[in-house]
Amino acid sequence: MRETVKNVALSSDGSAVCIVDQTLLPGELRYVELRDREGMYEAIKALRVRGAPAIGIFAAYCVYVLARGYTAEEFFPRLDADCDYLISCRPTAVNLSRQVERMRALAHAMDGCRAAEITQALGREAKAIHEEDIAMCRAISEAGLSLLHPGDTVLTHCNAGPLATSEYGTGLGPLLLAAERGVDIKAYVDETRPLLQGARLTAWELQNAGVDCTLICDNMAALAMKQGRIQAVLAGCDRMAANGDAANKIGTSGAAIIAAHYGVPVYILLPSSTIDLACPTGADIPIEERDGEEIRSLWYEKPMAPAGVKCWDPAFDVTDHSLITAVVTEKGVVYPPYDVNLRQLFG
Ligand code: MRU
Repeated sequence: MRETVKNVALSSDGSAVCIVDQTLLPGELRYVELRDREGMYEAIKALRVRGAPAIGIFAAYCVYVLARGYTAEEFFPRLDADCDYLISCRPTAVNLSRQVERMRALAHAMDGCRAAEITQALGREAKAIHEEDIAMCRAISEAGLSLLHPGDTVLTHCNAGPLATSEYGTGLGPLLLAAERGVDIKAYVDETRPLLQGARLTAWELQNAGVDCTLICDNMAALAMKQGRIQAVLAGCDRMAANGDAANKIGTSGAAIIAAHYGVPVYILLPSSTIDLACPTGADIPIEERDGEEIRSLWYEKPMAPAGVKCWDPAFDVTDHSLITAVVTEKGVVYPPYDVNLRQLFG
């Protein structure tokens, strides 16, 4: 069994949320503890903790840790303010708002109970959210592996491994399971500009797990597919609309369009906590725009663009449902028509 990195956890005394600072990988594996709301917000914003399911789990633990500091009189006003604050940090991944709202709803349903009792219940709920994600990722990985054949090579985009979720991950789960079982599945890993999460995180996770992986720049995927090097595209998701449109890290839709051209299947792997049936189509998904410094200078030794050049830095794009061969969930593999089949399973 490979060693699992605890990307999100509660400290043993419950006073802090511990994360692996993902901005330091692959050079350094450093755990940091977050105790105050500003530090928690900054950790999400700066992508120290990232990946849709992981930020949902993290935020749930944050709500618990913050609630421990409320007095009975101020409990609900402070809880509501902190929940709103955490949710406002990043807009695209639905898991963040979903898990924070789940925590808030639980607390409000206990209005009238002692603050200590509500806080304890919040702690149990955050743990449950985490354990559910572990189980879902495991099931998604099994279902995803059933779509692959020994000897296949897949293309991955961004990072949808244990760091972005829990334990097995979503998009990388089938690869990790295959490695554990000695099944030969290889991967091309998109570097994923501008944040290099493929290079920094996916390549690190796959290497550590013993998966045969090859790093490529994002613009090399078309040649790899044209030459028949890739048998499937595996990607995670940050929010799936009711019609199956999938918001994921910028560049995913490009990879899917190329895959359609070359007849390569595209599989989107996600837990049900990432499906947003209240969002009719991808056009309704808010797309986060980030600081252009990520394009100009981040990850370079010195800036690689003229100072002051305008940059547009959308963090996600939406892959049209028509480009998705199948959606892999903890309840199994879902095929089109997604508007009907997703609602049937998850409505
Ligand atoms: O901006 P991030 O890194 O939080 O984005 C999330 C992602 O890494 C992905 O898009 C991922 O594939 C989905 S989360 C398992």
